[in-house]
Amino acid sequence: MVQLTLPKNSQPKKGKTWPKPSGSNVREFHIYRYDPDSGDNPRIDTYFVDLDDCGPMVLDALLYIKDKVDPTLTLRRSCREGICGSCAMNIGGLNTLACTKGIDEFKGPINVYPLPHMPVVKDLVPDLTNFYAQHRSIKPWLQTKTPEPRTEWLQAREDREKLDGLYECILCACCSTSCPSYWWNGDRYLGPAVLLQAYRWLIDSRDEATGERLDDLEDPFRLYRCHTIMNCTNTCPKGLNPAKAIGEIKKMMVERAV
Ligand code: SF4
Ligand code: SF4
Ligand code: FES
Repeated sequence: MVQLTLPKNSQPKKGKTWPKPSGSNVREFHIYRYDPDSGDNPRIDTYFVDLDDCGPMVLDALLYIKDKVDPTLTLRRSCREGICGSCAMNIGGLNTLACTKGIDEFKGPINVYPLPHMPVVKDLVPDLTNFYAQHRSIKPWLQTKTPEPRTEWLQAREDREKLDGLYECILCACCSTSCPSYWWNGDRYLGPAVLLQAYRWLIDSRDEATGERLDDLEDPFRLYRCHTIMNCTNTCPKGLNPAKAIGEIKKMMVERAV
């Protein structure tokens, strides 16, 4: 039977309120804390950040907290410029990148949670093992049958332009973890991020495995669980449109069937 409520041991409790710095420009943060090894429920800790002593982005505030208030706060980040995708989390109710989300885009206390509906490794770090395995399953590399050219595989400028709006995906998982179909069927539905990547290889003029790629997606769960709810496109921090890419794959399926 489908479970519609959170199990008791995963319901967040009110956590600790950390000391407030003096100063007139202080912002309150409510941050999800969870250590699965502790056996305790998740909790929401309250922190205060002196914005006069901190950079402008939510990631700056999280690092302020980690460096100056509570070193046990766990999060992922690397590039701090919207390229690596590792700081994806739910901020103020929206899946986005902490490093490109300005603190001044929010009013009042800012809630920070891990990406939703994923197992949590610790605090703000989701377990993306299944997500990465799904990405691997679509064979995200060039597949060719003709002998390799002596130099590089050539591509016409107009064919290269077809990859615009796709190649920029940083696999942050913001879209997939905002998709209700992925929440309920994430073990079998590939989700918007991986399907956008699948489409990127389907329309690459140099790739010669289009038929096999479509065969792999022809499945009631892997592709057809998308119901065009559009959460994915609304949340993508890179401004991409995974729902459109999924629609294009469905169109390719129809076109090859006639
Ligand atoms: S499509 Fe956008 S939200 Fe989805 S993984 Fe790629 S960059 Fe992230
Ligand atoms: S459009 Fe499809 S992939 Fe995007 S959120 Fe909706 S169901 Fe999920
Ligand atoms: S730290 Fe790389 S995208 Fe935010």
